[in-house]
Amino acid sequence: PNQDEDNLRSPICCIMGHVDTGKTKLLDCIRGTNVQEGEAGGITQQIGATYFPAENIRERTKELKADAKLKVPGLLVIDTPGHESFTNLRSRGSGLCDIAILVVDIMHGLEPQTIESLNLLKMRNTEFIVALNKVDRLYGWKVCKNAPIVKAMKQQSKDVQFEFNTRLTQIVTQFKEQGINTELYYKNKEMGKDTFSIVPTSAISGEGIPDMLLLLVQWTQKTMIERLTYSNEVQCTVLEVKVVEGHGTTIDVVLVNGVLHEGDQIVVCGMQAWKSPFYVHYLSLGPIVTSIRALLTPHPMKELRVKGTYLHHKKIKAAQGIKITAQGFEHAIAGTSLYVVGPDDDVEDIKEAAMED
Ligand code: GTP
Ligand code: MG
Ligand code: NA
Repeated sequence: PNQDEDNLRSPICCIMGHVDTGKTKLLDCIRGTNVQEGEAGGITQQIGATYFPAENIRERTKELKADAKLKVPGLLVIDTPGHESFTNLRSRGSGLCDIAILVVDIMHGLEPQTIESLNLLKMRNTEFIVALNKVDRLYGWKVCKNAPIVKAMKQQSKDVQFEFNTRLTQIVTQFKEQGINTELYYKNKEMGKDTFSIVPTSAISGEGIPDMLLLLVQWTQKTMIERLTYSNEVQCTVLEVKVVEGHGTTIDVVLVNGVLHEGDQIVVCGMQAWKSPFYVHYLSLGPIVTSIRALLTPHPMKELRVKGTYLHHKKIKAAQGIKITAQGFEHAIAGTSLYVVGPDDDVEDIKEAAMED
């Protein structure tokens, strides 16, 4: 076996699409959680991150009897908001990922933020699969809980199959109008060669979820070995700056590559507010140099953005969603990079780099 294959980081997958197409619900279905119902107005307003260990993916996909073995340690999935006002978060999320899931509601077809997401993915040449979600809403759909989609489809009446095919054809045409060729994944022999795969799913009854997971993992393993080869160079983005009881101001980050240790000296970009005697507020940018007090993650298959119990780590390898506690994060800025000051690094150089974001 290729030596590189033993040294792979987890791929990062971003889930994108129009508001209420079921992005968070799909993740809830895989996690066995109920994050979506806890959201204000049922609307996602932050970037989320969830780590799925390889053994959970193996378990969830075993009915597909995939012979290809899983070489990656797991999969880090980034949830993004679909509401039109969060273009910046969609852009940030799509900038972090190796592969994406573009979620389309089978009852609605392509919608404005589907197209916006598609354009972000095109711009970065990011590979993606289309989850054609809410198939359970086809009139007369017979639930086959968590079944692979081909198996579930065989259980459906002629009428359901007809409605499915009609809607699928319309949606394939809509993609074509955007300059994108798509095809049902199990008919797509050309996969990746200009034709993107569609996986029909239901986030409520779980049909197609095994297919979606397997496709993501196999696809990244097959085509991105070089990109996924673990590197010692830290690549890390700040998602959120949050006050957490008992921890002070923390930052939630996505570690894309490399490793972080407790005690590492780090630099992030900050914003300082000064109050003058004339009550005028001045804002100035400045680097925050501090050291990692604690590296915390949620439990596997739990969402980073949801309050819960955390696991403490001495060190963490990419890819992961991590909550970092340290002094001085009060004015850290979301969306910027985190830098580690290595033994051979000059802290002044790193400070300069941090301010260039
Ligand atoms: P934003 O993050 O706000 O953009 O929305 P989202 O894409 O994450 O969608 P969300 O998971 O919030 O789901 C929106 C609504 O659709 C909720 O009421 C879900 O219960 C429902 N829903 C999601 N997926 C499915 C599905 O597969 N079938 C059915 N019937 N309903 C679904
Ligand atoms: Mg959501
Ligand atoms: Na929603």
